[in-house]
Amino acid sequence: MEIVRRILRMKEIVRGWHRQGRTIGFVPTMGYLHEGHLSLIRESKRMTDHTVVSIFVNPLQFGPREDYDRYPRDLDRDVEILSRESVDVLFYPSVEDMYPPGYRTYIDVEGLSQKWEGASRPGHFRGVATVVCKLFHIVQPDFAFFGQKDAQQFVILRRMVQDLNMDVELIQLPIVRESDGLAMSSRNVYLSPEERTVAPRLYQALQVGRRLVQEEGERDAEKIVEAVRSFLAQEPRIRIDYVALVDLEDLEPIETVRGPALLAAAIYLGPTRLIDNVTLNTK
Ligand code: PAF
Repeated sequence: MEIVRRILRMKEIVRGWHRQGRTIGFVPTMGYLHEGHLSLIRESKRMTDHTVVSIFVNPLQFGPREDYDRYPRDLDRDVEILSRESVDVLFYPSVEDMYPPGYRTYIDVEGLSQKWEGASRPGHFRGVATVVCKLFHIVQPDFAFFGQKDAQQFVILRRMVQDLNMDVELIQLPIVRESDGLAMSSRNVYLSPEERTVAPRLYQALQVGRRLVQEEGERDAEKIVEAVRSFLAQEPRIRIDYVALVDLEDLEPIETVRGPALLAAAIYLGPTRLIDNVTLNTK
C-alpha cells in the first residue's frame, strides 16, 4: 500500500490507472477505522480494480464547540488495518494542502443541509460537501462508498453529484452494528463504560418504531415518532435531539407511511451525540 500525502502525487497515480482503463473505488474516512469502514473497503475491492481510502479529519465540518481537536486519531493502527485489507493507496493529505491560505470555495447543498443534523450542527454539511467534492476531484473515483449511518450525508452528496454532473456513482452500504445493536462509530470511544451500557437503547427505540410499522401496521407518522420518543424518554441519561420520520429522497417529514421511509434519531448521552436510523418498509 502506498501512503500518499501530496495531492499532486495522488492525481498522478489516478491518471495512470485511468489511462490503463482501470476502475477506481474510493472510501473517504476521517480515520480511526472500524468494521463499518471495512465493509465499505471490502465492497470497493470487490467492485473495482483499485481502492483508495482517504483519512482526513476535516476541520470544515466541525463547529467551533465540537470535537475537532479530540476526534480520535491513530494513524499507525489505521495503516496496519488498511495494509491488511490490501488497499492500494491511503490518501492522507494535510489541512494546509487541502485548505491553503486564501481558500474561499465552498459547496452548499441548499435546503437538505439545514435540517435534522444540519439544524443541530450548523455548517456541518457545507464542510462535508466541500471536502467530498475536493476529494472526488483529486481521486476521480468511478464508485464511492458510504455507510447508511450518515443517511442525511448520503442524500446530500447524491444531490451534489447530480447537480454538479460528477462522474461518480455513490454506493450506500448498511450500518454495521456491535453485537448489542449499537451502530459502529469512531465516536463511540467517547462513551464512559456506564454510557456504553445505555447507548444501545437508541437502536432499540428505532426498532420499536419499525415493529409498529412492519408488524402492527401503524401508518401514522406522529404516533410512530411518539412511540420512539417515549421509549427513549424512559432512560433519564438520554437527552433527545430529534426523532424524525422522513421521505428518503428529500428528508421532509411525512405524515403517513406509504412506502419506504427513513426513521432517524439523534440523542445526547452525557456530552456525546449519537445518531442512528432504520429504513421502514410497508411490504
Ligand atoms: O462520513 C465521514 O466520515 C465524513 O463525513 C467524510 C465523508 C469522510 C467527509 O469528511
